[in-house]
Amino acid sequence: METHLYPFQKISLLLVITTTICLFHVQNSSAADDDRYLNCSASFQCANFRDVPYPFWGSSRPDYCGFPDFKLNCSGDAPVISFEGQDYRVLDINQSTSTLRVARTDFWNNLCPVSLANTTIKSSHIENTSDAQEVLLFYDCPPIFIPLPNQATGQFNCSVNSRTTSINYFVTNLELPNISGYCNTTVTARVSQSAAADLGLNSSKDNLVAALDSGFGLKWDASNTLCGQCMVSGGQCGYNISSAEFTCFCKDGPNPARCEGMRLNIFSSTNAARHVITKPPSLLHISSLNSDQFPLRPPPTPRRCRFTPT
Ligand SMILES: *[C@@H]1O[C@H](CO)[C@@H](O)[C@H](O)[C@H]1NC(C)=O
Ligand SMILES: *[C@@H]1O[C@H](CO)[C@@H](O)[C@H](O)[C@H]1NC(C)=O
Ligand SMILES: *[C@@H]1O[C@H](CO)[C@@H](O)[C@H](O)[C@H]1NC(C)=O
Ligand SMILES: *[C@@H]1O[C@H](CO)[C@@H](O)[C@H](O)[C@H]1NC(C)=O
Ligand SMILES: *[C@@H]1O[C@H](CO)[C@@H](O)[C@H](O)[C@H]1NC(C)=O
Ligand SMILES: *[C@@H]1O[C@H](CO)[C@@H](O)[C@H](O)[C@H]1NC(C)=O
Ligand SMILES: *[C@@H]1O[C@H](CO)[C@@H](O)[C@H](O)[C@H]1NC(C)=O
Ligand SMILES: *[C@@H]1O[C@H](CO)[C@@H](O)[C@H](O)[C@H]1NC(C)=O
Ligand SMILES: *[C@@H]1O[C@H](CO)[C@@H](O)[C@H](O)[C@H]1NC(C)=O
Ligand SMILES: *[C@@H]1O[C@H](CO)[C@@H](O)[C@H](O)[C@H]1NC(C)=O
Repeated sequence: METHLYPFQKISLLLVITTTICLFHVQNSSAADDDRYLNCSASFQCANFRDVPYPFWGSSRPDYCGFPDFKLNCSGDAPVISFEGQDYRVLDINQSTSTLRVARTDFWNNLCPVSLANTTIKSSHIENTSDAQEVLLFYDCPPIFIPLPNQATGQFNCSVNSRTTSINYFVTNLELPNISGYCNTTVTARVSQSAAADLGLNSSKDNLVAALDSGFGLKWDASNTLCGQCMVSGGQCGYNISSAEFTCFCKDGPNPARCEGMRLNIFSSTNAARHVITKPPSLLHISSLNSDQFPLRPPPTPRRCRFTPT
């Protein structure tokens, strides 16, 4: 049985086909897109994380796609970020709030690291979140009674060698008497406030391990406002290493803040939020189609298209 089409249906079908051919033509003509734009557009998988956002980079993602402080080591079972030579396991990244949650790798499932160091994160692009509380760990304390109330205070031992154990304490309430004078090493660590509250109720060694493993929050600012503008204009956020400034990589090259001109990349990627069609508005309805719903293959480059991107 043949489907009968009214003349106006034929015309509109023809229009849709022609428009689609022209759009594929525009799409195919992107061969000259800036390499850095393309490389920073590529989805960044790092260890067990998919689609790690700007400002993070490392492994397959080049350094110019993020800020220097946000280099990740992707070779383990979770991404690892380093501050001041100290490694932190990345537990969570939330792009909409510009926050991440990290836990120290040396304390991961372990209260007795070989070398003891403080949590010191000094970066002009990193701030604390309000949901973080300091915990003090006191190592190598003498086997004497230390006058601390039970609440929010715990004790744990580490074996130094087969014969010796060290006696150690921790406190979450920093208003308690300062016992660091009794012990050889004081370590400052951080946990979330809810983990600190749990520790206050039961300060067992296992709870301290769980509190440290659940990590603490950090907030990043890597020119977040400029990055938002850049993405809305169809660019990819990045960094100019020589000028040490934010850069917006556009299809036609880098810009200080945002891309200009027409963007017709509606077929090119899965992340619709990054794509903005500025003109022509009459083509906007095309954006509801995609190549699955519209079974047309990209034809050889047509020569009859009437419009070209400016
Ligand atoms: C982009 O990535 C490709 C493949 O990883 C690499 O060969 C090329 O050098 C990169 N381009 C730039 C400008 O870094
Ligand atoms: C990355 O982490 C692995 C262990 O997961 C380690 O062996 C390697 O040295 C680290 N690379 C760098 C550059 O720190
Ligand atoms: C990011 O944080 C916001 C606000 O706290 C929350 O609503 C959202 O679900 C989080 N996103 C992810 C992927 O966790
Ligand atoms: C950690 O910092 C405290 C001061 O906040 C200092 O007394 C202590 O020696 C530091 N610990 C280490 C291991 O550097
Ligand atoms: C973050 O909090 C820690 C301790 O809770 C503090 O030592 C550090 O100075 C704070 N950093 C900033 C940037 O406020
Ligand atoms: C503290 O360190 C010194 C020197 O390393 C050591 O002699 C002493 O036994 C330590 N004290 C405790 C309580 O472990
Ligand atoms: C740690 O070791 C000391 C001395 O050996 C012992 O009295 C104490 O009960 C131990 N504490 C824990 C939590 O195992
Ligand atoms: C605790 O006492 C040590 C020396 O005994 C001192 O270095 C440290 O700053 C004190 N910490 C606090 C939080 O008062
Ligand atoms: C504290 O938590 C540990 C597990 O971490 C549990 O074995 C212990 O019974 C708890 N103690 C109290 C008093 O609830
Ligand atoms: C980086 O900044 C320098 C100095 O402002 C400039 O000459 C160069 O073109 C910039 N490079 C990129 C990729 O934006």
